[in-house]
Amino acid sequence: MTVTVRVPAKVNVQLAVGGARPDGFHDLANVFLAVGLYDEVTVTPADELSVTCTGPDADQVPLDRTNLAARAAVELARRYDIDPAVHLHIAKDIPVAGGMAGGSADGAGALLACDTLWGTNASREELLDICAELGSDVPFSLVGGAALGLGRGERLRALEVGGTFHWVFAMAGRGLSTPAVFREFDRMNEGVRIPEPVASQELLDALAKGDAAALAAAVSNDLQPAALSLFPELAETLAAGRAAGALAALVSGSGPTTAFLAGDPESAAEVVRALSASGTCRTVRTASGAVPGATVLGR
Ligand code: C5P
Repeated sequence: MTVTVRVPAKVNVQLAVGGARPDGFHDLANVFLAVGLYDEVTVTPADELSVTCTGPDADQVPLDRTNLAARAAVELARRYDIDPAVHLHIAKDIPVAGGMAGGSADGAGALLACDTLWGTNASREELLDICAELGSDVPFSLVGGAALGLGRGERLRALEVGGTFHWVFAMAGRGLSTPAVFREFDRMNEGVRIPEPVASQELLDALAKGDAAALAAAVSNDLQPAALSLFPELAETLAAGRAAGALAALVSGSGPTTAFLAGDPESAAEVVRALSASGTCRTVRTASGAVPGATVLGR
């Protein structure tokens, strides 16, 4: 038997970052929106645990037990006293080290796929608990839609979304390490008293109404200055998207993928054309959201 799970990427429409905590993590007010760009994780019984990956960035994906998909399988198996002898295949479409939770998607996908394959029937709470152990963004990859993530981003509250938002994503020529971006954030804010991160009510209202112009006026990403400091060329990509009529242009999460909000599919196509012609990025994709989280496709 084989189980395939499809998992979406995310964009952070708000990423408010607090000061570094004693454990090194940062408290966040993190507003996630799941968008229709997907990885698929397929799990098949095998003699021993193994991981393979296909897709444009496949050569950058670790295939050992550090892969979040492998870690998810091992942790679920440990809790239920099962031998994690499975083959995990990742069909990867979400950029690697791109700020769109691609690794987290694979962790959530493998977890749901193994739960289905093994018939462990873990509760939603237990799956979310394992997700939070795997990484700050993994719980959101499981639930999808839109959510406010508090704590280090793992404590989720589902948010209402009143319409479809049309996005364009520009993938950069190289990745950015999330810990390195947070370290740069700390360096740039040394000696600064950072206020407690809070979600913007205007932004939550815009999401609930499905109002793209209001959402564009409210988006923010506190990691953007740090990402731009490590990857200054991203400013040119952001400028090219803005010049093409994007309602908002921002770095997605810790980057370096840049995200452009468009009012409708036609304006999104215009932004795609301009970004592709700009020579400032590797590939350009459209995706809309919100979309559901990890979903079992078939067995
Ligand atoms: O939780 P995750 O393993 O995805 O986080 C990767 C790294 O990002 C952490 O090791 C930490 O350096 C940084 N991080 C952070 N504060 C958060 C989330 C992540 O400092 N809330």
